[in-house]
Amino acid sequence: MKKIAVLTSGGDAPGMNAAIRAVVRYGIGVGMEVVGVERGLQGLIDNAFKPMYMRSVSDIIQRGGTILKTARCPEFKTLEGQKKAIENLRANGVEGIIVIGGDGSFMGAKAMSEHGFPSIGIPGTIDNDLAYTDYTLGFDTACNTILDAINKIRDTMSSHERVSIIEVMGRNCGDLALYCGLCGGAEVIIVPEHKLTIDEIVETLGGGQQHGKTSGIIVLAEGAGHADDLKDELNKRMDLTVKTTRLGHIQRGGSPSCRDRYLGTCFGVNAVKLLEKGIGNRIVGIKDNKFYDMDIVEGCAMQNTFDLELYETAAIVGR
Ligand code: ADP
Ligand code: F6P
Repeated sequence: MKKIAVLTSGGDAPGMNAAIRAVVRYGIGVGMEVVGVERGLQGLIDNAFKPMYMRSVSDIIQRGGTILKTARCPEFKTLEGQKKAIENLRANGVEGIIVIGGDGSFMGAKAMSEHGFPSIGIPGTIDNDLAYTDYTLGFDTACNTILDAINKIRDTMSSHERVSIIEVMGRNCGDLALYCGLCGGAEVIIVPEHKLTIDEIVETLGGGQQHGKTSGIIVLAEGAGHADDLKDELNKRMDLTVKTTRLGHIQRGGSPSCRDRYLGTCFGVNAVKLLEKGIGNRIVGIKDNKFYDMDIVEGCAMQNTFDLELYETAAIVGR
């Protein structure tokens, strides 16, 4: 292929810029023209293409967000929207596209593949909710941001002898809560994949009190409920001062970690290598510490599994 496009779609994630940089620099390096599409899949419909050069991606590897902007695009779920996008790609002489985004964006990439336009997906979402890859771009940075918040909240909870419920993102996936709960020493972790009853939560907190704990951290995944609802329930059952924090979008920003710059760079290069060989309809990922790629239809159909063993470990060491 001589001309390829790259876009970022859905929720932004730290490391997307590292991936864009790698796509542009590796693509140009092997003699391709690379165009950026602004505002994700919406930009394909709006014809928002811009040529990318070596210097277009200078000074971005350390920046969170995405220089190409991102958007959610309901129109792309329609056949008309998808056809318009492919028409615009072809009119611009583009032969293959790299979509950096989460499971929704991958459905868009899959649709283009199914219409005969070669597409490659790079997993970019803080949620870590794509089954075919062990890690998605942005997850590590988001974990570190959340941990920083947990540490700070723990300082004050401990001083005042209070319990804090910290609600984290992840949509329907509990990975952010699990990893941050484990690494932040949370007393209780609540995830959508393994719901706890209020009795179980009360029992765990009560057990901690019996062992001398005077404060605590509950990490609650947004997909498992709301912090304020849980606070009301706990207040009915226990004599504790409970505070809540919804971390919100702070979790999605910030300079990407070393790990996310590394993943972004390697995912980007691997995606271009496939298009360079004329291969489309794949998604790139990392499994057992090895980069690999798989069929986009198969990958999108895989069901995410939750690491229950790690969850149980976190419960034991958080007591
Ligand atoms: P993410 O990619 O982070 O999961 P979304 O779920 O919001 O984010 O999806 C991003 C975009 O992907 C949507 O706004 C839409 O344009 C596109 N998309 C989602 N689902 C589909 C689908 N079934 N078919 C085609 N495009 C889709
Ligand atoms: O998919 C990434 C994510 O941050 C989810 O964790 C969260 O549920 C959602 O996006 C928030 O979306 P928005 O930024 O549109 O509020």
